Amino acid sequence: MAKNPYSKKAIEGLSAYTPGEQPKPDPDLVKLNTNENPYPPSPRVVETLKDFEIDRLRRYSDPLSSLLRNRAAELLKVDSNSVLAGNGSDELLAMILRAFVDPGDEVVYPVPTYSLYVTLTRMYGGVPVEVPAEVGGSKVDKVLDREAAVTFIASPNSPDGYQTEQGEIRKLCEKRMGRGVVVVDEAYVDFTEGSCVPLVAEYENLVVTQTLSKSFSLAGLRLGIAVAGSALLQPLQVVKDSYNLGSLPQALGAAALSDPDHMRSNAKRIVETREITQDKLRERGWKVFPSKANFIFAEPAGYEAKRLYEELANRKIYIRYFSSPPLDRGLRISVGSPEQMAKFFKAVDEIVG
Ligand SMILES: Cc1ncc(COP(=O)(O)O)c(C=O)c1O
Repeated sequence: MAKNPYSKKAIEGLSAYTPGEQPKPDPDLVKLNTNENPYPPSPRVVETLKDFEIDRLRRYSDPLSSLLRNRAAELLKVDSNSVLAGNGSDELLAMILRAFVDPGDEVVYPVPTYSLYVTLTRMYGGVPVEVPAEVGGSKVDKVLDREAAVTFIASPNSPDGYQTEQGEIRKLCEKRMGRGVVVVDEAYVDFTEGSCVPLVAEYENLVVTQTLSKSFSLAGLRLGIAVAGSALLQPLQVVKDSYNLGSLPQALGAAALSDPDHMRSNAKRIVETREITQDKLRERGWKVFPSKANFIFAEPAGYEAKRLYEELANRKIYIRYFSSPPLDRGLRISVGSPEQMAKFFKAVDEIVG
């Protein structure tokens, strides 16, 4: 809790965002708690890293991340003037608040969702309006009639894996047109189809964010992409740190984006494992919320979720438990490799019996 005579009012009583645990590297650990990719990034990333000239580190990086943005633009079939690069999509979400929210403005989003939205909204002086939506159920209808400076929709959403249809996003953009910005957070979109990126050409108030942390296996590099009409990107440019990305992440990210086949083949394997894992959980009587992402939210049968989470952690199997209702009955399990999932199920069967 930020309680200090010098801290600003907006963050009084606010706790820092709690990410999933990042334990020390351990070969025995099965880490299924922060939706990282179990497979390595493209070999082009490794080559680029080997060939990277150390002398480049002596100079400041390209403030516009031009190469990275060009590669992202090619991949997403948009103009590079519609792309902004960030230090993870988290930085882009923060920039969105800095650019579009005045103190006291409302920021609306259906919950449960990515819990960084509340932290960032408060931090930048906005008023979070959290509208309950059923876990695994529709989101946009819950927030459609609630005017706001910014509306966040994570699609697929975390932690339930629910994907919002493009048509719903269209409805939301039309409703907010001229009055508020719609942000579609597509951190997990490569594990499904139907990105909203093509809609940015139609809606001047839409920003779509994506990340290289999940499908591109680069969570440790911290790279995100925002796509929007160039007019909407203008205020984001204003609030951007001048050199927000270092030369090394820019070069490695550009290499990854130039090899989308590698990313797609890993995503395909993860989707196959996701479907098999969902079936296996159902066979064991778990309530599974069908997921379009690289994780599954599910409620165990005949065993308390929190206890199972703790007992798995004792066996070095890390998954995610959220203690607040309505999520406290379930567990979020990142989809790992088949070998990791086999270890997960072996441990679950031993614990639950
Ligand atoms: C919905 C959602 N958006 C954004 C992020 C953050 O992505 P990045 O690693 O690009 O900051 C996450 C990470 O877990 C997420 O779940």
